[in-house]
Amino acid sequence: MIDQVREARDAALDRVAAVGTLDELRGIDAEVLGKKGALAALKTKLGGLAVEDRKVIGQAINEALGTLQRAVDERAGQLGAAEVEARIAAERMDLTEVTTRRRRGHPHLATQAWERLEDVFVGLGFQIAEGPEVETDFYNFEALNMPRSHPARSGFDTLFTDYREDGTVLLRTHTSPVQIRVMQNVAPPIYMIMPGKVFRRDTPDATHMPVFHQIEGLVVDRNITMAHLAGTIEAFTKAFFGAGFHSRLRPNYFPFTEPSAEFDIQRPDGSWIELGGCGMVHPNVLRAGGLDPEEWSGFAFGFGIDRMARERHGVDDIRDMFSNDIRFIEQF
Ligand code: FA5
Repeated sequence: MIDQVREARDAALDRVAAVGTLDELRGIDAEVLGKKGALAALKTKLGGLAVEDRKVIGQAINEALGTLQRAVDERAGQLGAAEVEARIAAERMDLTEVTTRRRRGHPHLATQAWERLEDVFVGLGFQIAEGPEVETDFYNFEALNMPRSHPARSGFDTLFTDYREDGTVLLRTHTSPVQIRVMQNVAPPIYMIMPGKVFRRDTPDATHMPVFHQIEGLVVDRNITMAHLAGTIEAFTKAFFGAGFHSRLRPNYFPFTEPSAEFDIQRPDGSWIELGGCGMVHPNVLRAGGLDPEEWSGFAFGFGIDRMARERHGVDDIRDMFSNDIRFIEQF
């Protein structure tokens, strides 16, 4: 009977070694190890044997079952690893691209302008601050002297979020709210620029995008006058665009500055283009920032970064800068 046990074990081992898939292995697993297997059948005959024989044969059957179990486990491990490998090979994607021309990336036109503007203003002694792109009504309008129902709000139409109370949290329409955040957190004298992304319900055209970039400037000190503003803007124009460019201030209206002006630059060919707004910080805005207008005065400006990039590089249509056409982008 010992021979029968060995034969049953070896036959089962051969079957286990021969299976090609995990599914097949599962199929024969129960057969060779379970109640219907040859070894189980031999076990049922133990009852008819003498006590001594029963012990020896019973032990041989248990050993055979143990060997068989280990063989099944080992084969399952091998087949599992092979199946994973096969799946990886089948699903492999070739992410390499063979090109004959080496391409080197570089910062986007708007990023280049942003960084250059920072360099110019840091050179003039300014520091840099940033504020959140999702703002509250208070910082975007209220603290900037635009209470609810102020008509100037309609020029800054944007998307409101459904966060908190209706109509209180929005995508900021300009970088001016950062003026208030800076005044609340930094003691004067303040010489700060605040670049960032802004959002408006503007239809894209050659000079407008619904998402664009601005750089805000804020100076708060004692006895600051409009002459300081004009001088700073002229120095900036020459440093950013070149010695052949001039700036001018044209009277305008902003609720948060008084007096207010539009900032234009003159190109070497004599034509003018508007790049931003500016003015003396309104006393109500200084108060909203926690400062006493009797003690402090200041000027502020807000320029369109994309417009400046467009001007500096002679781009006809601002939309080209964001069209994702690599042939256009890589020229700069
Ligand atoms: C403002 O946003 C004021 N916050 C500027 C300001 C700051 C005035 C501080 C006074 C004191 P305005 O809406 O004019 O103003 O926008 C400023 C500049 O952003 C524009 O001159 C223009 O260069 C740029 N700009 C405005 N709308 C767009 C647009 N849709 N796409 C691209 N650039 C734009």
